[in-house]
Amino acid sequence: MLSSWLSSLSGVLILLVLIVICHSEAVLANPDWWQKAGFYQIYPRSFKDSNGDGIGDLNGIASKLPYLKDIGVRAFWMSPINKSPMVDFGYDISDYREIQPEYGTMADFDNLVAEAKRLGLKVIMDFVPNHSSNQHQWFIDSENRVSGYEDYYVWDDGKTNPAGGRNLPPTNWIQAFRGSAWEWSEKRGQYYLHQFTVEQPDLNYRNPKVVEEMKGVLKFWLDKGVDGFRIDAIPFLYEVVKTSGGVYPDEPLSGTTQDQEAFEYLDHIYTQNQPETLEMVYQWRELVDQYQKEHGGETRVLMTEGFTTLEILKEYYVSAEGRLGPHMPFNFGLITDVDGNSKADQFVKTIESWMAIVPKDGVANWVIGNHDRPRTATRFGQDRIDAMNMLILSLAGASVTYQGEEIGMTDVFISWEETVDPAACNAGEALFEEKSRDPCRTPFQWDDSAMAGFTTGSRTWLPVGPNYRTVNVKVEEAQERSHLKVYKAMMKLRESKTFLHGLLRVRAMSDNVLAIVRELTGNNTYITLVNLGNNSEVIDATGLAQSLPSKLRFDAVGVSSHHVRGGAVATNDILLLPYESVVLIARTAALDHMYESICEAWLE
Ligand code: GLC
Repeated sequence: MLSSWLSSLSGVLILLVLIVICHSEAVLANPDWWQKAGFYQIYPRSFKDSNGDGIGDLNGIASKLPYLKDIGVRAFWMSPINKSPMVDFGYDISDYREIQPEYGTMADFDNLVAEAKRLGLKVIMDFVPNHSSNQHQWFIDSENRVSGYEDYYVWDDGKTNPAGGRNLPPTNWIQAFRGSAWEWSEKRGQYYLHQFTVEQPDLNYRNPKVVEEMKGVLKFWLDKGVDGFRIDAIPFLYEVVKTSGGVYPDEPLSGTTQDQEAFEYLDHIYTQNQPETLEMVYQWRELVDQYQKEHGGETRVLMTEGFTTLEILKEYYVSAEGRLGPHMPFNFGLITDVDGNSKADQFVKTIESWMAIVPKDGVANWVIGNHDRPRTATRFGQDRIDAMNMLILSLAGASVTYQGEEIGMTDVFISWEETVDPAACNAGEALFEEKSRDPCRTPFQWDDSAMAGFTTGSRTWLPVGPNYRTVNVKVEEAQERSHLKVYKAMMKLRESKTFLHGLLRVRAMSDNVLAIVRELTGNNTYITLVNLGNNSEVIDATGLAQSLPSKLRFDAVGVSSHHVRGGAVATNDILLLPYESVVLIARTAALDHMYESICEAWLE
C-alpha cells in the first residue's frame, strides 16, 4: 500500500520536474523571431481573389492568414502591391506610397497588417529600388527636365551616328528581358537606361536625392507597421561611372552564347555588383536598425534578391569592417546549383558552400522556389516534392517557401496566346517557353470547386492548373497522407530545440541518398534521409552522429514512404524506397519518450 503510494508520488514528482525542465527549455529557446522562421512568399495576384475579378487581392490574402498560421508560417513576404501599370506585374511601380487599386485600398492594407499582427504573423513588403515605372511622376518630370528631377534616372546622349540621324545607343548594354538596355526618349532627346523592360527606367543612385527619396519610401512603410522588406534586383542598383571621356564603357562578351540579344551575351561587369551597391545595402540596414531603436518593437528584417557570387553574398551579410547588410541575403543555391539530375554530393556541396559564407552570428536561409523560376515540383520532379520540402525544412536557419510549394503545385503550360509575362513576350514566340514565368504564377489551388476556390468569378488572369481537383488544400487536408501534411509535420518539428539550435551536418550516403543531421548535446538527434533516386537503397546511419542507439524512430515520413511515424528501424539497416524521404529521431535517454510527450502537451 505504502509502496504503491510512494511510487505514484514519485511519478507525480517526476512529472512536475519534467514540466519545469520542459518549460524552462521552451523559454530558453528564444532566438530572434526571424532567425529560424518559416517564411512564405505570396504572389498577391495569384493567392486569393475576394471580389470575383479573377485577380488576387489584399482582402483575399487577409482571409487566408489563418491558413498560413495553421501551416506553421511565421512571416510572409508579398510581391509588390504598390500602384503599377502592371507591365511587369507590379515590379514597375508608379507610386511607391499607394496600393494598386486592383489589389484594394490603403484601408485594406491596414486591415491586413492588423489581422496579421493579431495572428502573430509578420508582414514583409517587396521594395523595388532599382527602377520605377515610366508612368511614375518622377520619370514624367525627369523626361520633361522639370527642375530637381533631371537626374532622377540615367540619361545619356548616346553616340554620334556616323550615318547621320539620331544618335546611337550609348553602349552595348543588354536588358534582362533581351535587347538593348537603352531607350530613346523623343521628348528629352536622350537615351534612358532600363535594365528590365522599356517601361522600367533605372533610377539614378548617384543622385543623393534619389537615395533619400527611396529611404523615405522605406520609412513610409515602416510607419505603416510592416516588419521588413524583401529588396528586389539588388545587383543592378548602380552602374559604373563614366570614363574621363564622359562615356560609359561597353561590356565585354561573355562567350557563353552567340545570341546577341540575349542578356547572357555580355559579362555584366559595368552594370551589376558595383562597389557602391554594398554601401547602399548597409545604409538600408542602418535605417531599419535605427527605426527599431527609435520606435521599439521587434526586429525589422531585410531580405535581398541578388543572383550573384558567394564571395559577394558573403559581403552582403557583413563587410570586412563589420558593417551589417541584410539579415537574409537570399540563398538561391537550391534553385541555381541543383536540379532533378543532381546527385547527393552536389546537394552537399551547395549546402556546405552556403554555410561557409554565413558569418559567426549570421543565420543561413534556404529559398527553393519563387515567382521567377519553375516550381520545385517541376524542377525536381513530382516524385521529389516531399524530399525537397523535407530538405529545406531540415536545414539550419530560415526557410522560404513560395506559395503552393507546400501542396506540390506544378508549373502550368501557358500557350503563346495566353502569355502575359513581359520576359516571355519580349522573347517572342520561338523562345517564350524558355523564358516565361507565367507557368509558376497560376492561381493558388485552394479546393476542388470551379477555379480551384481562387475566385468566385468565371475568369482568372492566368489559367488555373489542370490538376487542381487533386492538388489543392482542401483535398490534402482531408487525406491521411499528403504533401501538405508532410509540410505541416516538418514545420512542427522545426519548433523542437534541436531544430532551433542544433548543429547541421550534411552527408552523401550514396550517389542518391542525402543525409541531413541535426544534433544538439543533451537533446534528441534528428536525421533526415532523402532518396533522390528511383532505386531502393539500404542505409547504415550508425556513423552519422555520436553514439546513436541501435534503433531509431520515424518522426516524419513522405507521402509515398513505406514507413509509419513512430515506427522503429535498425540504425544500421534502413530501407528507403525510390524517392522515399524520412526524418528519424534518436532519443537521448530512456525517459525521453515521456519527456517529449509532456513537452508536446505543454507547448500546445
Ligand atoms: C526581380 C523580380 C522579377 C522582376 C525583376 C524586375 O528579379 O523578382 O519578378 O521582373 O526583379 O523588377
